[in-house]
Amino acid sequence: MTIQWFPGHMTRAKRQIQEKLKLIDIAIELLDARVPLSSRNPMVDEILQQKPKLVVLNKSDLADPAVTKEWVAYFADRGIDALPMDATTGFGVKEIPERAKVVLKEKIDRQISKGLNPRAIRALIVGIPNVGKSTLINRMAGRNIAATGDKPGVTKGQQWIKTGGGIELLDTPGILWPKFEDQMVGYRLAMIGSIKDQLLGLEDVAYQAVRYMLKEYGNELKERYDLESVPAYSDELEANDVVDVMEQIGRRRGCLQSGGGVNLEKAAMVILRDLRGGKLGRISLERPEAGTGST
Ligand code: G4P
Repeated sequence: MTIQWFPGHMTRAKRQIQEKLKLIDIAIELLDARVPLSSRNPMVDEILQQKPKLVVLNKSDLADPAVTKEWVAYFADRGIDALPMDATTGFGVKEIPERAKVVLKEKIDRQISKGLNPRAIRALIVGIPNVGKSTLINRMAGRNIAATGDKPGVTKGQQWIKTGGGIELLDTPGILWPKFEDQMVGYRLAMIGSIKDQLLGLEDVAYQAVRYMLKEYGNELKERYDLESVPAYSDELEANDVVDVMEQIGRRRGCLQSGGGVNLEKAAMVILRDLRGGKLGRISLERPEAGTGST
């Protein structure tokens, strides 16, 4: 689902999350493993205030495992624990309680030293639309979907879901909004289907995806579409060379218009569908290095 965000929406979304902060011990920030920084709302730290946080790199089944490792190291360098996950199969989900306990260790140790029995950790899942929040909540809830009901001090209507491993989840996630002052961030969000293609133009989104794949995954592209050759990547790669690859793909996939020319719009649709569906292999669209907007 793509939500059109206006300042009023953003203020309300921010307020809704901040109201929940006082109920929780930890926020679980979901990012898309293929574009961890682009799928991160830049205001998230301000919104979450000083709340302890665990980062989850979801959809890691679609991302390049080597690049995901680089991202885990990137976050670790910044003192943030980031956990790769695939919420649809449940890969990584079981690790959440243990990781949360590590993040909250000081607080838990303090409770124990005061002779208190640490209660279940209360968590809120936050992230931009389509990043997998509901899937993760359902996955964590498993058969324990029975909500634990209202608790004293809990906003009326808030439901807690008991999950295994000593974590209770708020049943509604905090919805952050995608933000892209940098156009490349917008393109990456469109590549993963988090914002509508039409916002930046379908063909332009596919163009940027192919350009990036020529840089990082030229062979995958060549093999998947059985292309004769793909141009070697350089920063000076001409737009025409990229469009030529799109046309080759279109021809291979029968995206033709009357007269025999390639229908570039159809080709763009095919490329983006294949990319999003993992048909091109496990592809990351952002790397933690200079020049990716990943500072
Ligand atoms: P949201 O609450 O953050 O908006 O996201 P939601 O859970 O609705 O997930 C959005 C889409 O992403 C869903 O696909 C969901 O199945 C998929 N998804 C969630 N987590 C993962 C993951 O770890 N790996 C992969 N590959 N996909 C994931 P959909 O096409 O919208 O729906 P459906 O096909 O599942 O019906």
